Amino acid sequence: MAVLESEVLKGFVRLCDDGWQQGWHERNGGNLTYRMTDAEVEECKPDFKYDKPWVNMGVKAENLAGEYFMATGTGKYFRNMSLDPEANICIVEINAEGDSYRIVWGLKNGGGPTSEFPSHYLNHSVKAAQTNGASRVIYHAHPVNIIALTFVLPLNHETFSKILWQSMTECPIVYPNGVGVVEWMIPGGAEIALRTSELMKRFDIVVWAHHGMFVTGNDFDLAFGLMHTVEKSAEIYIRMLSTGLPMLQTIPEDKLAECAAAYGCKLDESLLK
Ligand code: 13P
Ligand code: ZN
Repeated sequence: MAVLESEVLKGFVRLCDDGWQQGWHERNGGNLTYRMTDAEVEECKPDFKYDKPWVNMGVKAENLAGEYFMATGTGKYFRNMSLDPEANICIVEINAEGDSYRIVWGLKNGGGPTSEFPSHYLNHSVKAAQTNGASRVIYHAHPVNIIALTFVLPLNHETFSKILWQSMTECPIVYPNGVGVVEWMIPGGAEIALRTSELMKRFDIVVWAHHGMFVTGNDFDLAFGLMHTVEKSAEIYIRMLSTGLPMLQTIPEDKLAECAAAYGCKLDESLLK
């Protein structure tokens, strides 16, 4: 019962419930991974079994060798995570080469980690290196409004970042590095994983056109809060457009950096073109 009673599992499941309640997780849509601390691994280890085969991921990250990840299962529904975590969530161990995983806990009725595990894994690799190990959460969801915007806005980082920053006053403070955008691609697998992780070197938020969003954070609150904030700014922009009225005013472009600076954040002004 070590895993089921752990705080880390409770935090993981709570994020899943919160995302479900926001309407971001139709059917099996979306996925969540968490890179466990050494203390959490030790706490959960009494429940681990090392009898499953190694599975090659098609991607490699040496800086994640030997790490343990908690992950939603592929095909599993966020609305079911809290009802039966052991059937819907797994913990995987990464091998010494950093290119394969094996399930050590969970998915008691069979299955594997999310089909987006390669994207999560490479994003973790980038963020762990960039934050000196502080970043632990990668979260993928299908929020309605950000997806809707990918049909009507040009698919570039500058347009998305500027419009979303201007849609709600605290956005330049919450995500001063802006939003990366990936054109439509086939989900799952190595290609979209490589493309996304390249952008994660610059951004904490990556939008997948006509699909959804990836965010990263040091903990569950920060990752969920980031998804929530970006999606809310997208919703405000869509609601403003849907009035059919002309936009009379917005947050001045030349004040966005000043607004971020007032709270100790540095806006990536190269996105304001
Ligand atoms: P999984 O069920 O494999 O996690 O896939 C859901 C999804 O959102 C794919 O992008
Ligand atoms: Zn998806």
